[in-house]
Amino acid sequence: MADLLNPADPAFARDPYPYYARLRARGPAARVDLANGTHAWLVTGYREARAVLADPRFSNVPPKAAGRPRPDSPARRAQACLARHMLNSDAPDHTRLRRLTAAAFTPRRVDALRPRIARLAAGLAGDLAARLERDGSADLVDAFAFPLPVLVIGEVLGVPEADRADLREWTYRVGSPADALAPGAMDAAWTALHAYFTALIADKRRAPGDDLFSSLVHDAREGGLTDGELLAMAFLLLFAGYETTMNLLASAVLLLLTHPGELSTARRDTGGRRWDAVAEEALRHASPLEGTTWRRTTEEVDLGGGAVIPAGSSVLVVLAAANRDPGRFPEPDAFRPGRYLPGPERAAAHVAFGHGPHFCLGARLARLEAAVALPLLFDALPGLRLAADPGLLPYRPGLLVRGPRELPVTR
Ligand code: HEM
Repeated sequence: MADLLNPADPAFARDPYPYYARLRARGPAARVDLANGTHAWLVTGYREARAVLADPRFSNVPPKAAGRPRPDSPARRAQACLARHMLNSDAPDHTRLRRLTAAAFTPRRVDALRPRIARLAAGLAGDLAARLERDGSADLVDAFAFPLPVLVIGEVLGVPEADRADLREWTYRVGSPADALAPGAMDAAWTALHAYFTALIADKRRAPGDDLFSSLVHDAREGGLTDGELLAMAFLLLFAGYETTMNLLASAVLLLLTHPGELSTARRDTGGRRWDAVAEEALRHASPLEGTTWRRTTEEVDLGGGAVIPAGSSVLVVLAAANRDPGRFPEPDAFRPGRYLPGPERAAAHVAFGHGPHFCLGARLARLEAAVALPLLFDALPGLRLAADPGLLPYRPGLLVRGPRELPVTR
């Protein structure tokens, strides 16, 4: 029997790894009692994580009566509509949505964003430098790691620059615990996002741009996605792409500032291979998505090692734990970008972007953002230093996403 898990505990949020290591030592998957009175199966072994993510007996469709509010208000209807996206679906619906979206998300289109990402990152790094000059210290999450992914998704969706601050605010609100906001603020954000994307689709239909979302809208006219599916897709791209990438950038900066030797090695490299390795190792070591979305078993599944998961169970694949499985990664708790340099010694692929049919559609874009933004940041601010004790930084509670909520820095 594992100890009771309280995902809201700030100490667990900051460092969940000792708990996951204890759990893994008992078997690759374990039934865990959660502090809210429910229970779930947590998969912590690397091999088993990949097996579950590729197994159709683990469904992504949220159960109808999972305590979700009934769509009885405009905000609830908007929320229900935006949640009908491919990450919440199984084959064959998922296969069709994924095929149509992947056709727009080509490597060529993603790579074409490089100069725009560089321009946005350089602008934010310049603003941060000016703020540090003026105020002495600033929060790197607020000034850099948070705005950059939202601005980049703005490019993907072809959203006018003037609207991006609104998107940033609404997305922040719908991802926050309701009790952390003013009454009604979250409902207003759901309704605003729904209205905004409805108008955006109509705009793109009238006047397609050269953005990726325009090609999705255009494909829709030729028997592709329906309007409802487009709406949910816009929301998924915004939501899946921002907090994850924000956590990657913030965690990578934190790891580099606390491992100055690795930072100077990366800074000396002009070919970019070392920065790519930093991003890969940060993804493994500080997995931005701590767990995947919830799965539910459609029948009893024997995962081996004594883990027999009954039908109808809630299952969470803990990517952060699988990526620290000592059976797969020697010295898993050490931050060593060198393990991801090309060559015969290269470490196993991490599962930070998931595995199987739902493997992250934005992986190439996220890697590109990190590879462009990190060197630009340290070029603009070569003397960047932490202005807080790294062991005391606050982390967002919960099992889904992980990264520092604040990263006070100085120069
Ligand atoms: C560091 C950044 C990112 C990480 C760590 C990450 C991680 C993941 C993971 C683990 C999944 C699978 C979840 C599951 O199986 O339950 C996923 C799915 C997805 N991600 Fe990402 N992601 C990142 C950035 C992005 C970006 C930038 C975009 C888009 C612009 C994006 C779009 C998606 C989409 C659309 C899916 C659903 C795919 C499907 O259901 O087939 N992600 N991501």
